[in-house]
Parts: sequence; structure tokens; C-alpha cells
Amino acid sequence: MKHSLLTMLRDTHTPRHQFRHSTEKLSFLLAGEAGNYIHSNKIRVKTPLEETTGELLSDKIVIIPILRAGLAMLPAFLRFYPDATVGFLGMRRDEITKNPHLYYENLPMLSPEHSVIIIDPMIATGGSGALALQKILNHKVPEKNIIYVGIVAAPEGISKIKQIAPNLNLVVAHIDEKLNKDAFIVPGIGDFGDRYFGTES
Ligand code: PRP
Ligand code: URA
Repeated sequence: MKHSLLTMLRDTHTPRHQFRHSTEKLSFLLAGEAGNYIHSNKIRVKTPLEETTGELLSDKIVIIPILRAGLAMLPAFLRFYPDATVGFLGMRRDEITKNPHLYYENLPMLSPEHSVIIIDPMIATGGSGALALQKILNHKVPEKNIIYVGIVAAPEGISKIKQIAPNLNLVVAHIDEKLNKDAFIVPGIGDFGDRYFGTES
């Protein structure tokens, strides 16, 4: 299922409405996978037959999309985690240096008890991810409570974010081959934000 949705996203001929629909469905699957890394509490539960032990996910979940492209994944994550709080980090890669420029920051209360899910479909050089992680670690959230969710990652980007937080949890639909000379992921998806929001030039 994930591969077929990813193929729709890769295909340069996929029309915008289908690109959005595939993003929504794939993000929903990734949201479920992210749940495997969220802290849960043991509870007793009564089935119609007897009492047994169960688990309930912690309710201290924060979702942080990296703007813009991370916004594309947010509706599916909110359907999965409807009580989560949401923070925003707005970043744009400099076209020459490829370094991220932080233009907006609005984070809710973060504490060592929170599970933080960072969402951004593309992990290319990992510069944006590394900056986002630095911000979150500054709030004393333990690395093991951080789940970084992407759709496609380059090996270079994964190394970079793992340097900042070696013990974080990473969920991606696919690890691609490499970056090209313009720091785009290949084979990749292209410019995700532009394709999703319809701002291709
Ligand atoms: C894209 C993407 C990531 C970033 C990844 O954002 O959404 O945030 O690039 O690249 P990196 O791993 O090399 O930092 P972009 O800067 O194109 O902005 P946008 O989301 O507003 O389109
Ligand atoms: N941002 C994108 O949207 N795509 C890439 O391949 C790299 C960065």
C-alpha cells in the first residue's frame, strides 16, 4: 500500500488532486506507525467476559509540522491523534547555501513527559530537520520521545539528523538513493511543497 501511494507521489504526471489524496492516505499510514513509539500507560480493562490488562497511548502528544510542506501531513495526523497539541516551525532552504532559514516559530508547552512528532515529507540534506530537533531538545524533551516522520529521506539527511539526536525514532516511507547537485532527493518526489500547494513555476 505504502509503495503504491509513494509511486503516485513520485509520478510527475500525477494531477494535484491525486497528489493531495495520496499524501493524505500515506500520512495516515505513517501516523499509525509513529504510534508505535509513543509512550503508553498500562490500564485494566473489562471485556464482556473478564478483566484484562490493556494499554492506552499517552495523551501528551505534540505534533510539529515544518512549514510549509509539513502542513500537508497535518490533517491525517490530527485524525489519528485528535487531542494532540500542535506547534509550528517555518523554514525555507536558502537556494544557494541549502541552509534552512527559520522564519516562524510557535511551539506549545513542551516538557520531558511529552511525545513530540515532527512531520516533514522530505529529509534532504537534513538541515531543516537538524534545526527543528535542536529547538525541541532545548525544551528538555528526551530524544527517545521524539518521532521524526518523513515520506522520503536521503541517506545524507538521515545521518545529519541522527548526529543531532542519535536515539530519536525515525519513520519514513522510503530511503532514496542520494542527493543530486542541487540537494534534491533522487529519484525523489520533486519539490513537495510546490507540487502540493500548486506553486510550481
Ligand atoms: C523542503 C522540505 C523540507 C526541506 C528539506 O522545504 O519540505 O523542509 O526542504 O530539505 P533539507 O533536508 O535539505 O533541509 P522548502 O525549504 O522547500 O520549503 P517549503 O516546505 O516551504 O516548500
Ligand atoms: N525539498 C523538496 O521538496 N524536495 C527535495 O527533493 C529536497 C528538498
